[in-house]
Amino acid sequence: MKTLSAIPMPAMSSFPVSENVARMQSSATMAAMQAAEALRAAGVNVCDFGAGEPDFDTPENIKQAAAAAMKAGRTKYTSAGGIREIQTAIIDFYRREFGTEYQPAEVMTTAGGKQAIFNAVVTLINPGDEVLIPKPYWVTFPEVVVFAGGIPVFIETEETDFVLTLEQVQQAITPRTRLLILNSPSNPSGRVLPPNDFRRILELTTERGIYVVSDECYLRFVYPPAEVFSAASLPAELRSRLCIAGSFSKTYAMTGWRVGYALAPAEWTKAMLKVQGHSTSNTNSMAQWAAVEALNGPQESVATMLAEYTKRREWLLKALCEIPGIKCAEPEGAFYAFPDVRGCLKNGLKTSGEFAQRLIEEEHTVVTDGAGFGAEGYVRISYATSIEQIKEGVGRIRRLAERILKV
Ligand SMILES: Cc1ncc(COP(=O)(O)O)c(C=O)c1O
Repeated sequence: MKTLSAIPMPAMSSFPVSENVARMQSSATMAAMQAAEALRAAGVNVCDFGAGEPDFDTPENIKQAAAAAMKAGRTKYTSAGGIREIQTAIIDFYRREFGTEYQPAEVMTTAGGKQAIFNAVVTLINPGDEVLIPKPYWVTFPEVVVFAGGIPVFIETEETDFVLTLEQVQQAITPRTRLLILNSPSNPSGRVLPPNDFRRILELTTERGIYVVSDECYLRFVYPPAEVFSAASLPAELRSRLCIAGSFSKTYAMTGWRVGYALAPAEWTKAMLKVQGHSTSNTNSMAQWAAVEALNGPQESVATMLAEYTKRREWLLKALCEIPGIKCAEPEGAFYAFPDVRGCLKNGLKTSGEFAQRLIEEEHTVVTDGAGFGAEGYVRISYATSIEQIKEGVGRIRRLAERILKV
């Protein structure tokens, strides 16, 4: 009998991968995660700023709700869009927070916010449709568009400090524009789109018949004076072509549970249910019960996390700005700093990717190259890690910067 390793494996290149998938890029954030894992496995003391997930544990009440659901035998298929209780909990949350009356036919749960975005894009985009994606963007946006056969059209926003403006959207629209993807607070820049600008942009897209996906996965992590804002609070006529992608991953430290949701007009939701019904079906049933508890139970854990992120952010920003060659604007939300490292691209160093690579090799410190988010010259630093790690890691970044600049 042949052992598995003796069976010749076809070279990967011989697999006739579909054209759309061949055009997709691997995730830069996953690459950073793998780099950190490889270092840890080699026993290296690594400072990992790559992870895009909270370092907090899922709150106990949420875990208990999942355990209770399992014990009660709530372990079967549910309807593809989720149990009635989770739909009600999401609708109630949006009513409480934003005064909106969503209907059950406009709500569905998904395997994380990522699946909500995937569903929304593949149900709408035909080959050749243009999709507007402001830079810097979360790595998945263009790839999902490419998967669907669409054409990502990137909007440059560096001139306006990575805050999208109405004029920038106006200039990017063509007769083939079908969708705009917004993400506020933004991963990677931490930028928050001011509510008034959000409204004006949706007035424009509505008038032009363009659909919008608003990725609100970091909704609750906003630092004053920036305000928590959901597109759900816009008037009904501005929501007629809007899909909100939401997530429990960051807000309740539930990344591994895979629960998110989509809020969209009933017909769009129906199409998304069709796709999901034939792909993954319902979100894990016990995770749905956990998510009901997350929304209906005590919310202190969210405030505790936000307070901790606030402290780390303050420390990190000050320390980063003191490093020669590095400039960093203040992130207003999420848990990322997005420093400009172009001042360090000297003495043979040409790209932020090379900077990130040297950080790994020489200082065992992992950051994510901004090029993966469409912003060459920047790196993303996640501060969803302990203040001790942040202090140690920033010291290492400083050492590298000083070595490069010979100061
Ligand atoms: C901007 C943004 N959207 C969506 C997601 C997806 O999160 P999940 O699928 O875990 O809900 C992430 C995760 O990193 C993200 O950063």
